[in-house]
Amino acid sequence: MAKDFDTMEDSNRSANASIHQVSDPARRIWLQGGLGALAAGLWAPWLSGCASMGAKEDALLGFKSVPVTDKDTLVVPEGYAALAIAAWGEPVGMAGNMPAWKPDASNSAADQAVQMGMHHDGIEYFPLDGSSMRGLLVMNHEYTDDGLLHPGGMTPWNAEKTMKSQAAHGVSVIEVELKDGRWNLVRPSKYARRFTAYTPFALSGPAADHKLMKTAADPAGRTVLGTLNNCASSMTPWGTYLSGEENWAFYFDGPEKMSADQARWGMRKKSFYPWATTDKRFDATQHPNEFHRFGWVVEIDPTDPISLPVKRTALGRAAHEGAWVAVTKDRRAVVYSGEDARFEYIYKFVSRDKIASGGAKANGSLLDHGTLYVARFDADGSGHWLPLEQGQGPLTAANGFADQGEVLIKSRQASDLLGATKMDRPEWLAIDQAKGEVYCTLTNNSQRGAKDKPGVDAANPRANNVMGQIIRWKEDGDFDALTMRWDHLVLAGDPANERAEAKGNIRGDIFACPDGLMLDARGVLWVQTDAHATQMYKGEMKGFGNNQMLALDRTTGEVRRFLTGPVNCEVTGATLTPDGRTMFINIQHPGEAPGDRSDPADPTKYSNWPDRQAGGRPRSATVVIRKADGGVIGT
Ligand code: FEO
Ligand code: CA
Ligand code: CA
Ligand code: CA
Repeated sequence: MAKDFDTMEDSNRSANASIHQVSDPARRIWLQGGLGALAAGLWAPWLSGCASMGAKEDALLGFKSVPVTDKDTLVVPEGYAALAIAAWGEPVGMAGNMPAWKPDASNSAADQAVQMGMHHDGIEYFPLDGSSMRGLLVMNHEYTDDGLLHPGGMTPWNAEKTMKSQAAHGVSVIEVELKDGRWNLVRPSKYARRFTAYTPFALSGPAADHKLMKTAADPAGRTVLGTLNNCASSMTPWGTYLSGEENWAFYFDGPEKMSADQARWGMRKKSFYPWATTDKRFDATQHPNEFHRFGWVVEIDPTDPISLPVKRTALGRAAHEGAWVAVTKDRRAVVYSGEDARFEYIYKFVSRDKIASGGAKANGSLLDHGTLYVARFDADGSGHWLPLEQGQGPLTAANGFADQGEVLIKSRQASDLLGATKMDRPEWLAIDQAKGEVYCTLTNNSQRGAKDKPGVDAANPRANNVMGQIIRWKEDGDFDALTMRWDHLVLAGDPANERAEAKGNIRGDIFACPDGLMLDARGVLWVQTDAHATQMYKGEMKGFGNNQMLALDRTTGEVRRFLTGPVNCEVTGATLTPDGRTMFINIQHPGEAPGDRSDPADPTKYSNWPDRQAGGRPRSATVVIRKADGGVIGT
């Protein structure tokens, strides 16, 4: 669908890019290479490590890299084994309600509501009693391919199909166990749970009960039905799951003439999903405020099966990829997030209160009070966190921000006025708590530098950026600092590419379009890619093969390819058991059609992974990865 790829719309028409545009080509080059004097000072350990490049042994990465492929299979290194579990449509394991998956996709909407959703994305392992052999997997289901979801595809559309599509969105909680050398779902499980596009969520924080959040069905502005387009995930230090609502704007049908606010958030007259035809909640001409009730970071306590999920408005409204927590020395939470849309922003929230001992219940309102900031990356390698505080600077009633709730609901417009830096589609972040460093994938932006679009700047240095980059920063002091130093960890793309803007500075195995990111306990930065079906295998993407997962040694700079996925999939989400010996990742949309909707008459046209069953269809699934010798993943 038109949500997660480089052909997506951008709706940032604000003028604040030009002040960061870099006119000095020499400066651009050092930023690309990461070799400026300032950068050399800041990143001295990393740069000095580069001298050892070329050595055959890498202390951190012990596996043999896998080659690129365009075959419809999943490949892991020698000595590793991979197994697909928990595919779309498998029952999650609610007692007495476990309808079996039907390979012709004829399960009802009611079945789907208790089965794994479609299009698995971010995933986290929550150990039960600290165990590396039994735990909960919590994962997002980003969106649906309605060509695959219903036996006859989308025609004719009806209310049951809307319900099934909504039920295939959201979040799943499943219990898993390692028994006799194999991971399986525990079914039934008291923890098994689904959150869909119609599960009640509480609204909390400054924008809850705001007049812009009130609807006919919820006059108090306190309860929203559903979560949408959930992309990346993280686990908080107090044991909850955070999920980002990403491209929710594409689910609403808008009016002929959009308001400035609707246009700024990318509303369309006819959305990609025909939900509004049978569920008037998504018809913005009738229920304009429903649109404001999505775009929030969602917090879930998976260990309490009856806990109410919450949308945390203090973290701002955005096309949130996800949200990740760092901890200050005095134990306050700093939540970093970005929005995956062209020319949008990176944010951080600093909590007012300290993290309490006592887990989820003791921190039930921690993310409701604090200050939200947006990032400006300057060309001299400095960065600034600009507060989104009503009454400060341009964020006044006269400019359309009557109170803090309105600032948070209109965080994009507020960021425009503050002069934040328009980024190349921020995807996942990873935090090195010990070193005080933060990494963010900027997946690509083919519109950078196009006519009437923002030009290059220091942080987003390539026009027609088809390859993407990983930016990193270190706060000046603790994580709550107002300034930081930044540079690029890596520019993706083949260093041998003939076009300058598509050249990367990768040392080791090439990749493009970084998206998923995970920093493991040993310090390996795992990178997952998401090049779209319309881009892959041709032109500048020729030679990159199927989407993949790589390991990056931040000391030596080496990148090594760990896994390649099946045809037209995205590799996304990664989590490890506490002992580091089992890794879970997700394969999203194997066989994705170029138009993001499969032909129901030929559902296996591009892929039939993982079932390879005649008459079946490709399915997103979780992949369990183990070493044959039971060792730590990556060694
Ligand atoms: Fe849903 Fe930005 O990936
Ligand atoms: Ca995708
Ligand atoms: Ca992506
Ligand atoms: Ca993503």
